[in-house]
Amino acid sequence: MKLAVVGTGYVGLVTGTCFAETGNQVTCVDIDERKVEKLNNGIIPIYEPGLDVLFHRNVEEGRLKFTTDLVEGIKGAEVIFLALPTPPGEDGSADLKYILKVASDLGPILNQYVVVVDKSTVPVGTAEKVHAHIADNAKVEFDVVSNPEFLREGVAVEDFMKPDRVVIGTRSERAKGVMNRLYAPLVRQGNPVIFMDERSAEMTKYAANAFLATKITFMNEIANLCERVGANVDDIRRGIGTDSRIGKRFLFAGIGYGGSCFPKDVQALAKTAQDYQYDFKVLKSVMQVNYSQKTKLIPQIVEHFDGNLRGKTIAVWGLAFKPYTDDIREAPALDNIKALLEAGAKVTAYDPEAMENVRNILGNQITYAHTSYAALDDADALVIMTEWPLFRTPDFDKMNLLLKNKVIFDGRNVYEVDQMRELGYTYYSIGREAVNVSVEQKV
Ligand code: UDX
Repeated sequence: MKLAVVGTGYVGLVTGTCFAETGNQVTCVDIDERKVEKLNNGIIPIYEPGLDVLFHRNVEEGRLKFTTDLVEGIKGAEVIFLALPTPPGEDGSADLKYILKVASDLGPILNQYVVVVDKSTVPVGTAEKVHAHIADNAKVEFDVVSNPEFLREGVAVEDFMKPDRVVIGTRSERAKGVMNRLYAPLVRQGNPVIFMDERSAEMTKYAANAFLATKITFMNEIANLCERVGANVDDIRRGIGTDSRIGKRFLFAGIGYGGSCFPKDVQALAKTAQDYQYDFKVLKSVMQVNYSQKTKLIPQIVEHFDGNLRGKTIAVWGLAFKPYTDDIREAPALDNIKALLEAGAKVTAYDPEAMENVRNILGNQITYAHTSYAALDDADALVIMTEWPLFRTPDFDKMNLLLKNKVIFDGRNVYEVDQMRELGYTYYSIGREAVNVSVEQKV
């Protein structure tokens, strides 16, 4: 099939590349000339494992193209995906200006039946608005379908190619046929394509992300309570996760969820509830808890150094909001670094992928280490913010030589408590006993 993808951000680029991989002819359109030039020169603006191989293969085979010209990009397309940003406005609602502008631009230039697909996460009712904006100037028949994307950063290609399910919101039989044809190669293992109306599809995406954010937040609160009652949240996780009604995934306690989706979508759903005069109490709590969870280690760090971080150097391992990405949007590491700097500490950070992005924001307020070990050199303590695999099994002998004190604050429960006890580290983690802490410091 011939497809167009408008917007070459995260979702757009993965969507375009993966649909090219399943044999479609894809043109990606973006207004950003520099980005399109880079893409045409084989430079991928994001880090996403596995994407580069697919990208280069499909560009070489002529199935994947990039342009800034909307008219050229949509020529002959049976399906046009809208994968445009929906940044939160000041009141938390998703801002639709980019999507609606493209919808208005599309109307007069469509010249055959086409399915326009909302791929971005958009508030309930957006498909109708997009439809109205196109219809204002359209001379041909078209359908607008809501097809939310559930891919996770870091495993986006795999999630896209083998989705647990595909949700399609449309009441048009013609559009259903087109979408079924397009997704058939991705659901061959039997996972469902679930059809519903547009509003329900839009709501499904928010419900999924808000539910997962709630699941994580619930575990974070259980962890906070575990610390007080002397229980171990890892055991609780295993104990409840094996109940198939609960499920094993997304039960890892830590310093809160971040990224481009959960915070934005939870906020947007809360705003939708407010718009419809519904008091969504759970969501409000989720937002509050996650906000405080992000910097929950800071008071312990300050306390450990007798209330004074001046002159202390803190090594930070991990800056990205999660492993396998360079994305630092809403990353807890940033809030923690800011709090450490405000408290007078010096920060030396290391992340395998996200350092350039942090440098663009924090500049030389912190030091950037070339390796994970270099970050530890002469540091008074190590703080772990992202659970990159390389942090899991470090050479502790080497660490002992570099760190000034054997002190670790672990925001992602990367190590076992017993292991740290034996190694003689003062070790604070989330929802588990703090070990080798001096009596005065044990609260
Ligand atoms: C998420 C959804 O999973 C995806 O379906 C949607 O399309 C976009 O938003 P993503 O933001 O890429 O994907 O990250 P995800 O892997 O879901 O993690 C989100 C956040 O939750 C991260 O900050 C992660 O560290 C945190 N998390 C995740 C936990 O704190 N504990 C967990 O058990 C799982």
